[in-house]
Amino acid sequence: MTACIVGWAHSKFGKLDGETSESLVTKVASEAIAHAGIEPRDVDVIYVGNMNGGFVKQEFHSSLPLQTHPDLRFKPSTRVENACATGSAAIHMGINSLAAKKARFVLVVGVEKMTELNSTQAGDVLIKASYVAEEAEIDAGFAGIFGKITSAYFQRYGDKSDALARIAVKAHKNGMKNPYAHFQREFDYAFCRNPSDKNPFVAGPLKRTDCSPVTDGAAAVILADSDTALGMKQAIAFRAAEHVNDFLPMSKRDIIQFDGPTLAWQRALASARLDLLDLSFVETHDCFTSAELIEYEAMGLTPRGQGERAILEGWTERDGKLPVNVSGGLKAKGHPVGATGVSMHVMTSMQLAEAAGAMQLASPKLGAVFNMGGTAVANYVSILERVK
Ligand code: COA
Repeated sequence: MTACIVGWAHSKFGKLDGETSESLVTKVASEAIAHAGIEPRDVDVIYVGNMNGGFVKQEFHSSLPLQTHPDLRFKPSTRVENACATGSAAIHMGINSLAAKKARFVLVVGVEKMTELNSTQAGDVLIKASYVAEEAEIDAGFAGIFGKITSAYFQRYGDKSDALARIAVKAHKNGMKNPYAHFQREFDYAFCRNPSDKNPFVAGPLKRTDCSPVTDGAAAVILADSDTALGMKQAIAFRAAEHVNDFLPMSKRDIIQFDGPTLAWQRALASARLDLLDLSFVETHDCFTSAELIEYEAMGLTPRGQGERAILEGWTERDGKLPVNVSGGLKAKGHPVGATGVSMHVMTSMQLAEAAGAMQLASPKLGAVFNMGGTAVANYVSILERVK
C-alpha cells in the first residue's frame, strides 16, 4: 500500500447550464481539500483529468485548480488524458508522485463540460478516441463503435437484448438513490427492452437506454502516502492499482474478448491477493450496457459468452453476490469523460467510509473500480479498502 484517498468531493452530474470547467474544478477542489482536513498550502502536486478534444474552447486546464485558493499558486499541476479512463489515469499519476516521494498530498481533479455541444457534435469529439484511420467513419460516434462490438457479441453468443435491458433497469434503479446522478429517473424493463419513439435504436442493437448520456460534471480526491494517511480523519487505501494498455486498432484484436480489461483485473486481484468474490462491490465502466455485460466476463464473474447470467440471475443487483454499479454507473450517473474515473473512486470511497447515504451497502469491506478508455484500450483497475 503506497497511497490512500483521504478526502473527496463530487459535483452534481447532468446538464449543468451556468457552470464552466473552471467553476466545476474550483468547487470540487476546495471541497475535497476541506473534506481531507488539510489546507491548500499542504497540496504538493496537482493532476487534472480532462479529455476535452473540442467539447469546450478552453483546452489548457492544468492551472484551473490554482484559482481555488491563492496558496495553490506555483504548485506543479499537469493535465492528464487517456480517453474515457482519463480520471483514473490522473489518479495513477498521483499515486506515482507519492511512490516517488515527490509529494505527501496530491490533489486530483477530473472534469468535463460536454453539453456545450449537442449529442451529434459530442459524438464527433468522442470518436477521436477510436483508431481514427480505420474506425472514424462508423456512424453514430462512439455509440456506433459499441454498436459494432455488440453485434459481434450477439453473432458469436446469441441475442442478449434481454440482459442489456436488465442492466439498464438496474442502473436507473440504483441511480434513483444517488443524489449526484444525471438521471434520477426509473425506466422499466418493457421500456428498455422494446424500441419506441422515446427509446429508438442508436447504433446496431443498442437503443438509447443502452447508452450513457452526454454529461457535465467534476469530482476530486486528495491522495496521501500511507504513513501520512493513517494520521488523517479517514483513509481508503489502494490494495491494487493496475494499468494495462492494448493495441488501439480493433482490427488487431478479438474485440469481444476484452483482453486488456481481463489482464488488468487478473493483475489487480493477484497483487491484492484476493479472489473476485472477496470484493463487496464493483464500480465498472458501463459506457454502454454491452460493455458491462462483457466486463462481467473480463473480471472473471462468468466464463466467456455467459455474462448474461450475472444480471439475469441477480448476482450484480444491489442485494446480489457482487453488486455492480450501485451508484447507477455511467448509464444513470452520467459519463463526463474526464471526470468519470475520479467519480468512480469517490463513489467507492464513500461506500467504504459508510458515507454513501441512500446508496449505502451494509458494511462493505473492499470495493473495486474498472475504468476503460476507448474500446478496451486503456484499462485501469483499482482495489480499495478502508484502513481508517
Ligand atoms: N439514456 C436514457 N435517456 C436518455 C439518454 C440516455 N443515454 N440520453 C438522453 N436521454 C433522454 C433525455 O433525457 C430526453 O428525455 P425527455 O425527452 O424525456 O426529456 C430524451 O432522451 C432526448 O434527449 P436527447 O439529448 O435529445 O437524446 P439524443 O438522442 O440526442 O442522445 C444519445 C441520446 C444516446 C445518442 C446520447 O446520449 C449519446 O450520444 N450517448 C453516448 C455518449 C458516448 O458515446 N459517450 C462515450 C462513451 S465511450
